[in-house]
Amino acid sequence: MPTHHRTIAASSIKPSPDLYDELDPSPRLLMGPGPVDLYPRVLRAMSVPIQGQFDPQFTGYMNQTMALYRHVFRTENQWTFLIDGSARAGIEASLVSLLAPGDKLLVLMFGRFGHLLAEIGRRVGAEVIELETAWGTVFDPARVEAAVKQHRPKVVATCQGDTSTTMLQPLAEIGPICRRHDALLYVDCTASLAGNAFETDAWQIDIASAGLQKCLSGPPGSAPITLNERAATAINHRKHVEAGIKTPDIVEGNGPIIRSNYFDLAMLMDYWGPKRLNHHTEAASMLYAARECARVVLEEGIDAGVARHVAASAALRAGLEAMGLELYGDAKHRMANVTGVVIPKAIKDSERVRAQMLNDFGIEIGTSFGPLAGKIWRIGTMGHVARKTNVLRCIASLEAVLRRNGYAAPAGAAVDAAYAAYGTT
Ligand SMILES: Cc1ncc(COP(=O)(O)O)c(C=O)c1O
Repeated sequence: MPTHHRTIAASSIKPSPDLYDELDPSPRLLMGPGPVDLYPRVLRAMSVPIQGQFDPQFTGYMNQTMALYRHVFRTENQWTFLIDGSARAGIEASLVSLLAPGDKLLVLMFGRFGHLLAEIGRRVGAEVIELETAWGTVFDPARVEAAVKQHRPKVVATCQGDTSTTMLQPLAEIGPICRRHDALLYVDCTASLAGNAFETDAWQIDIASAGLQKCLSGPPGSAPITLNERAATAINHRKHVEAGIKTPDIVEGNGPIIRSNYFDLAMLMDYWGPKRLNHHTEAASMLYAARECARVVLEEGIDAGVARHVAASAALRAGLEAMGLELYGDAKHRMANVTGVVIPKAIKDSERVRAQMLNDFGIEIGTSFGPLAGKIWRIGTMGHVARKTNVLRCIASLEAVLRRNGYAAPAGAAVDAAYAAYGTT
């Protein structure tokens, strides 16, 4: 008997019989707001042997990952790398490194993740100004400019796509507004990157971060980030390096210390840069995953990938509407990778519908929170999942489940409409 079995058996805790079962997750088609199914190549990349982060071959992989993400973010920013942690790790790293206590942060809030930005801002001690627009809508740039003029924030933070409302904030005018008024712009593009156009440099975004688990079709646990020289200069002004790893060539700033060690972007730039500061042990398997996600996305081509997301959501939406369902939110500003569907009145138990989708068809669709709890379902068509077979499976299954739950969807209409949207009969 292996040692670990003996140790547990000898203790007073009775192991349940399934404790030693091998992992065997049931097959699922993940069509919620993320995470989604992985690109098979990403799964394979995670199983290759790890190396330490100072192995020259591994630093080569780190450099390649930086180069790949420059293309994904459409930027020439040298400082384009990964934060080890789920998407909010990228948000925290950005906000804690940019904002010292008392600094002003203006947050554009159009859903749950705007609240998250504001909450992280408050935790780092910033003076947070919340600008809100109704869920299901996005901001008019003129309103943003007026608020920036009035409050003169150091940082403006917004999501591009907020999965909670399925809305996509247009950004092309927000960056120039921030430049005009000398504010730094942070964008959370976790939910939208690689499924919707995103232009870091052309839109003058100073710092942006994402996660792997949406349109990049990787596992949650790595947050790609990019920052330009404006952001890097502001952050390096606050650079203080841990005593145990400081080297004589490191120049510290005289601004207030960044109040997180793990998320200190000043140290992280030196870790990813030529200094190779010994900051943390790189999450090697996550780096392999992130690198492969970017390779898959770039091989397809960003524009082709975005077009695939647009086609999948158009077909899904055509199918949903053919069932007589109402789509949620401002039609002009919907994300291309997640769709909100208003739960029809005839459905008495919306969670039963989701449970039947999962248990009878193996398909996960999303619920909602905040003001939308119990009002909409959210269906994702992201990354590897955003293709015709999955759209057809989802709407055919949903039609069957809705009919079993008292909603009379016209038989076959949804699949016909989705076929038509794809231009096939
Ligand atoms: C827009 C947005 N930001 C941030 C997050 C948080 O990501 P994570 O759960 O990976 O920390 C999500 C996750 O759904 C998201 O959609």
